[in-house]
Amino acid sequence: MMLDIKNLSVSVGDKTILRGVDLQIGKGEVLILFGPNGSGKTTLIKSIMGFSGYDIKKGQIRFRDKELNNLPIEEREHLGVGIMYQHPPVIRGVKLRQIAEFLCKDKQKIKDLSERLSLEEHLDRDINLDYSGGEMKRSELFQVLLQDPRLLLLDEPESGVDLENISIMGGVLNEYLARKDKAALIITHTGYILDYINAEKGCVMIDGKFWCVGSPKEIFNNIKAAGYDKCKECKWSKKKK
Ligand SMILES: Nc1ncnc2c1ncn2[C@@H]1O[C@H](COP(=O)(O)OP(=O)(O)O)[C@@H](O)[C@H]1O
Ligand SMILES: [Mg+2]
Repeated sequence: MMLDIKNLSVSVGDKTILRGVDLQIGKGEVLILFGPNGSGKTTLIKSIMGFSGYDIKKGQIRFRDKELNNLPIEEREHLGVGIMYQHPPVIRGVKLRQIAEFLCKDKQKIKDLSERLSLEEHLDRDINLDYSGGEMKRSELFQVLLQDPRLLLLDEPESGVDLENISIMGGVLNEYLARKDKAALIITHTGYILDYINAEKGCVMIDGKFWCVGSPKEIFNNIKAAGYDKCKECKWSKKKK
């Protein structure tokens, strides 16, 4: 097992956001996470990564048999956890090339990946400054893949990206995840990423809990047809209870 989360409850300030989440992701697995706005998806990813302000009240996060609960972000990164933000920060005064060379010593790899993601010109621009939504997402994917993480945490990778670039990002991601020692947790609203990635497991988070586990394409079609409210009544959630 790569990631093993048991009964995780997380608060931000005095607000409880995650309420008893259980989650396992094995080597080679991709888990797709659906859920309405504000349900706690980003909080889950940030809790796995170890951002400050996300207080674990109960439960345990283990990664490759090591407990992460109290480890700082950089140690989690060293162990092989990588995150692609939903809303990445602008970093003035630091060029994309500088962070790329900090993250990866292989200049050829930087060149190849920047070309594939159409970021050659961005290498000499400040990180995320005046990038379009799609460029920011491509730059995020570029940075996280240069870290070569074992577990990729992707927060809405395709939101704001045009179809052509979704296809490019999907292809790059699919290739990365085809390596058997990798795994991913991917949050999506649009479902486009499902056309490119071989994911067998999906789940729905509502009010800080998982309600449903099943085939991601089937879940996505059900959400499109019946909305998230129906997820609470679906066959999988009954089976789980
Ligand atoms: N740092 C924070 N301070 C206050 N509230 C937060 C913070 N982070 C998340 N929340 C709240 O927690 C809830 C879940 O947020 P989030 O995990 O971002 O949801 P999702 O990603 O599913 O849309 C929201 O109501 C959000 O406003
Ligand atoms: Mg979010």
